[in-house]
Amino acid sequence: MSVYLGIDVGTSGTKTLAIREDGTILASSNVEYPIYSPKPGWSEQNPEDWWQATQQGVAEVLKQGRLKPKEIKGIGLSGQMHGSVFLDKTHEVIRPALLWNDQRTATECEEIERRAGGRKALIKMVANPALTGFTAPKILWLRNHEKRHFDRTVQVLLPKDFVRHRMTGEFATEVSDASGTLLLDVKKRRWSKKLLGLLDLDASLLPKVYESEEVSGSLSASGAAALGLPEGVSVVGGGGDQAASAIGNGIVKKGVISATMGTSGVVFAHSDEVQIDPEGRVHTFCHAVRDKWHVMGVVLSAGGSLQWYRNQLGQAEVAAAAAMGVDPYELITAQAAQAPAGSEGLFFLPYLTGERTPHADPYARAAWIGLSLRHGKAHMARAVMEGATYAMRDCLEIIEGMKIPVKEIRLSGGGARSEFWRQMQADVYGQKVVTINAAEGPAYGVALLAAAGTGAYKNVVQACEATINVVTQTVPQVASNRLYNALHPLYQGLYRSLRQDFRAISEQLGS
Ligand code: XUL
Repeated sequence: MSVYLGIDVGTSGTKTLAIREDGTILASSNVEYPIYSPKPGWSEQNPEDWWQATQQGVAEVLKQGRLKPKEIKGIGLSGQMHGSVFLDKTHEVIRPALLWNDQRTATECEEIERRAGGRKALIKMVANPALTGFTAPKILWLRNHEKRHFDRTVQVLLPKDFVRHRMTGEFATEVSDASGTLLLDVKKRRWSKKLLGLLDLDASLLPKVYESEEVSGSLSASGAAALGLPEGVSVVGGGGDQAASAIGNGIVKKGVISATMGTSGVVFAHSDEVQIDPEGRVHTFCHAVRDKWHVMGVVLSAGGSLQWYRNQLGQAEVAAAAAMGVDPYELITAQAAQAPAGSEGLFFLPYLTGERTPHADPYARAAWIGLSLRHGKAHMARAVMEGATYAMRDCLEIIEGMKIPVKEIRLSGGGARSEFWRQMQADVYGQKVVTINAAEGPAYGVALLAAAGTGAYKNVVQACEATINVVTQTVPQVASNRLYNALHPLYQGLYRSLRQDFRAISEQLGS
């Protein structure tokens, strides 16, 4: 049997999946690790935790699936995007990695725009504006704040590419994840020498760029020994978690869009050409499909808002769920369902960690607005879910405004597992939403890339066609959709009213 491994180095843990060539899942494992926030707005992890988790994950799937190491024919890597791993000349990690949701780099974003000759000029070079989460501002932050660390840095890697280095000894990345560094010429699919020059960064700091289904190296003797696999197994480029998840959802042609409600929320559209929002509200990145691109809007705390609610206010539901042996989210969404659509005038702004799409504002913060004596926990929980879903609609509207056709919306992530949230999404988006057979996220997508890249399929599009199909459909309810159409502009107005206050609060805190 030929088996392909997909490994997703995520924010809460590393997921490892083993699939057969026909897409059947043979085994899966999830190994968690901590996230550190040494200061408000900072978000860091230890890269060695990712490598440990990968070793444990591979061992677990081999055992669970009773797989023989020699059956593994290819490995695909995915991971949280934008993170920065700084390596010294002995290839050791210099400091904890700054993650995608780290917000410390507002000044460096301004510096990048200035050096690039303005926002417009920057977007022309790399298709995107400078956002705090992206990698380039993190490199500049290191240079501005930890010069002694910067001076020792010989290589900057993205999270999954650090794991690739431990596996293969290669310094390599691929186009989809590289797009999120802000240093890739997204149109030409290679590093932007021009921007690197303007930022005074040496190109040798960056790894070699591959297409996502290309083989980027093979297991070295030490990588193979650590994973319990034979030396020489091919490791394909893989993809940043969003592009990889899109492959896993079959978003490989025009008109098919995905809405993924994980910790972050992402609306993702395939594009045959480079299409750029001149205001830079959505990202334009290379797709994990050869010579294709994608446009995506990113909501930083979508499912993450409900997770925060569960952790801070859902202790009773968590305890009850443990006693009943069910998932606490089942009880929280059942409670939310007791409040009517629109939460009787209660709104939640989901900006717990600032926001990317549509505001690109690291200072934005979350809020319930409209509380009255009538409101209880059911309303508060429902308002959190509605707020996250309105934020996703913001992304969808920008994509539609770019004349990118939306014919089918495929849901994935936690928001797709709940029937209640599926219906809410259909009602808020005003469109039919569907789920597919293999909602396994990025690990599944890169396992398909590994199968395609090592010859099981002609290309990844063919791999998707052979393995993915629609399993549920949910259509909007007319009355709720009408209500949400009326409430969404009110939701949008609340941020505009509060924008300056969020900034003032942040200044007051000195952050
Ligand atoms: C995408 C993004 C997140 C992270 C973490 O731009 O920032 O999706 O990749 O999942």
